[in-house]
Amino acid sequence: MSAPILRSLAELRALRAAWRAEGARVAVVPTMGALHDGHLSLAAAAKAAADRVIVTIFVNPRQFNDPGDLARYPRTEARDAEKLAPLGVDAIYVPAPDQVYPPGFATSVSVSGVSEGLCGAHRPGHFDGVATVVTKLLLQTGADCAFFGEKDFQQLMVVRRLVRDLDIPVEIVGCPTVREPDGLALSSRNALLPGDVRTTAPALYQALVEARRALEAGTGAGAALATARAAILAAGFAEVEYLELRAAADLAPLEAPDVPARLLVAAHLGGVRLIDNIEVAAR
Ligand code: PAF
Repeated sequence: MSAPILRSLAELRALRAAWRAEGARVAVVPTMGALHDGHLSLAAAAKAAADRVIVTIFVNPRQFNDPGDLARYPRTEARDAEKLAPLGVDAIYVPAPDQVYPPGFATSVSVSGVSEGLCGAHRPGHFDGVATVVTKLLLQTGADCAFFGEKDFQQLMVVRRLVRDLDIPVEIVGCPTVREPDGLALSSRNALLPGDVRTTAPALYQALVEARRALEAGTGAGAALATARAAILAAGFAEVEYLELRAAADLAPLEAPDVPARLLVAAHLGGVRLIDNIEVAAR
């Protein structure tokens, strides 16, 4: 059965209050819709961890630095609701824009440190938009736990930081990236890839895996990353925005994986910006 779709904060609050009275543990899975198996894995993990699950669908204008990117972001609400139905999600919150940003809205949540560099350097204002909307969604839903994908690793770090800094009483759960059989990380943006470049897209993940192998075998980060960057461009990507080795705990730049690390990349293919990242063990 399809979960009820709530469009106002008042409806959400009423449902949340009823669940609180039952003593239910409530999970939230924040999304911007265009749901794929990655999102569904978050909803399934939430369902396993909580009594009640809310999936939010809100294409947040404040996190798009490019108006064209916002305009063409896929919007597929009816299909999203169908995909969630078999998972037993309890509510889908699809707020009208003024339920998130009422007239006169003048507040922004800005997280320094982990939001700088990587995507933060290339998408001005993006993480302020993410931090602001996630703060609102956590407070509006009053969730006990919230589920985010590791595919957006820097976003996950920003969310963990803001929750700690603002004393929001919610457990943040990071879930592994879900991939196509050829390795391409699932993303709502994959649907925008022109058909003739789809077979090139997995080269991004393959380059990360090869760079990890080299790093774990003792190659320095400079050489390993230069080889990976060249492989991504040789495969047909138009641009590598960044490709970096960072500490998994705080995203500090690393020359070598002397601590648990993460390789993170953003690159452009067929007019679409793809991001990915993988874990690198400390050596
Ligand atoms: O990862 C996303 O889909 C979005 O950045 C999020 C967390 C739903 C905030 O709009």
